Formats: sequence, structure tokens, C-alpha cells
Amino acid sequence: MFRRNDVDSVGSDEAVIATNDDASSCKRCAVALGYWKDRYINYFVKATDRKAPEINRGYFARTVTIKILVDKFIEVTNGNCQIVNIGAGFDTLYWRLVEEGKSVKGFVEFDFPGVTSRKCLYIQRTKQLLQAVSDEDYDVKLNRNNLHGHTYKLTGVDLRNLTDVEAKVKESDLQPDLPTLFLAECVLVYMPLQKSAQLLRWIADRFKSALFINYEMVNLGDRFGEVMLNNLRTRGCDLAGADACQTTETQRKRFLENGWAGADSCDMVGIWSRLPPEEVARVSQIELLDEQELLRQLFAHYAFTTAWTDHRWSEVTL
Ligand SMILES: C[S@@+](CC[C@H](N)C(=O)[O-])C[C@H]1O[C@@H](n2cnc3c(N)ncnc32)[C@H](O)[C@@H]1O
Repeated sequence: MFRRNDVDSVGSDEAVIATNDDASSCKRCAVALGYWKDRYINYFVKATDRKAPEINRGYFARTVTIKILVDKFIEVTNGNCQIVNIGAGFDTLYWRLVEEGKSVKGFVEFDFPGVTSRKCLYIQRTKQLLQAVSDEDYDVKLNRNNLHGHTYKLTGVDLRNLTDVEAKVKESDLQPDLPTLFLAECVLVYMPLQKSAQLLRWIADRFKSALFINYEMVNLGDRFGEVMLNNLRTRGCDLAGADACQTTETQRKRFLENGWAGADSCDMVGIWSRLPPEEVARVSQIELLDEQELLRQLFAHYAFTTAWTDHRWSEVTL
């Protein structure tokens, strides 16, 4: 029987899935303007309208920070590590790493089957994408929602269902003892707090050498945050995890209360001031900003939180 709640949840899941299309088209727009290089994003998303300069700078700051942190983790582990991107959407990180010759032992992406089925299709029909997940000695296994290459695995799963996540992690050949970087860009906020807490605890229990990088909203309690929340809710997105996004401290706490040994959190105002000055100077020339205050407000409402089960990874910072 289909209950009213089921209908609401399916509708809301569709709206959450649509946030990936938004994120991807914002990334494509910023890449087209020259904020950073990404030869792969165009294969996943069509050209769209131009976004506001603040949005482009926001995506630049988010993408370059992830690049710096991921590259550091690969460097300090000498590539003897795994990367797991949860709620990966159409992220292109894997292809950048291959292009730059940065190899890892395993690279796994999870998202709703409604997203992974589209990503599978794009990879399958694009030589440049398919080549990078293929290996002479290993046949790529592909079905509607999943793609399993030797190193790269793309898997459809609802992250709120821990039993399914456990099964998919097993199928992905992830090794619990290897240093493992978990990435989540604007994902946990869409999950009920109890479900994201369960997931974080499960990861901490199982992966004893893990680093988690979480990028998402903070300061949702003020007027600007309220407007952000209302905009998303108007589009049908239930921000079930918003309570963990009140401050950088609530972001840190969600990890510390769920089995992580340490955590750090910094809003994007702080992150911006730590980015390489030459890069900041370069992108500041791309578009003029009429409203510096708007950019500052936007940066005050997003943060990077890193958490670790192994103290060695506390050094992976900007
Ligand atoms: C805002 S998009 C971000 C996509 C990507 N991380 C990026 O930054 O480009 C959020 C993503 O999280 C995924 N997501 C949210 N809740 C999920 C869940 N319960 N299970 C699987 N994926 C989920 C959505 O489908 C979507 O792809």
C-alpha cells in the first residue's frame, strides 16, 4: 500500500536529486568562465545560463579547497588510500586524478540510483570517460545503476538505508584497514539527523584510518540562513538534517558524538583567507563583484568540516 508519507518522501527525493543538476550546472558555468579547469563536466551537463559572480566564486572556493585537501591526502598516503564520495552526483574528481596521474587503490561513488543510472549512461557513451575507468586486465561491469571498474566504482544506494550501504561497501571491495577519505558535498543536510548520525558512526567504527571532508551550510539560524532554507523548501527539498548546520560547532559535534577522534570546522570566510593568494588574485579578475557584502554573507553560510578517526589525518588542512 502507498501511504501519504511515501508520496511525500518520493517527491522530496526527486527534489533532492535535482540539487545535483543545479550543482553540476553551476560548476559548468564557473568552468566555462575560467575559474578552474575541468575537461569532463561538459559530458555530464549541458550549457546553462550564466550564474551570479558570487555563486561562481563560491563554487570556485569549494572546488579548489577539495582539490587541495584531496591532493594532500593522496600525497601523505603515497596513493596507498581509497576515496569514497557519498552523494557524488556528477562529480568529476576521479577523471581529474587520472588525468594528473594521481592513482589511488579504490575510488567509490554513491548516490541515489536515479542519479547513478544517468551517470552510468554518460560514462558508457563517452569515450573519454569510459577509458579512464577501464583497465586492460579487468572488464568493466555495468548495469542500470552501477558501474564497476577495477579502481572506479559507481553505485546506486539510498544512504539512509544502512543495511544497503553496508552491502554496497562490501561489493565495492573497500578495504577497512586502508587510509580512506570520505567526501560529502552538500549531502548530509538532506538526510534525517538520526540517519546521517548512524552512517557517520558506522564509518567511524569500520574505517579506523578515515578522514571525512564535509562541505555544507552553517549559520542557518539567522535571517540569511532562513532565506536559504525557505528557497530550498519551496522547491520541495526537505532539509531534514538542518539542525546539524546551525554553526561550525554543531558541525564538529555531529562527528565527535558519533565516534570520530577529532574534528575541525571553518566557514568559507576563513577558508577564502587561506587559499593560495595568486589563485584568489587570478579569479578576482574574472568578474567584478558589485556586492562584496553578498559574497561575505554567502561565505559565512557554508563551511568545511574535517573529521578523522586517525590523528595522522588531522594534518590534512589548508
Ligand atoms: C547538492 S547535490 C551535490 C552533488 C555533488 N556532491 C556535488 O557537490 O556536485 C546532493 C547530492 O546528494 C545526493 N543525496 C542526497 N541524499 C541522498 C541519499 N539519501 N542517498 C543517496 N544520495 C543522496 C543527491 O542525490 C545529490 O546528488
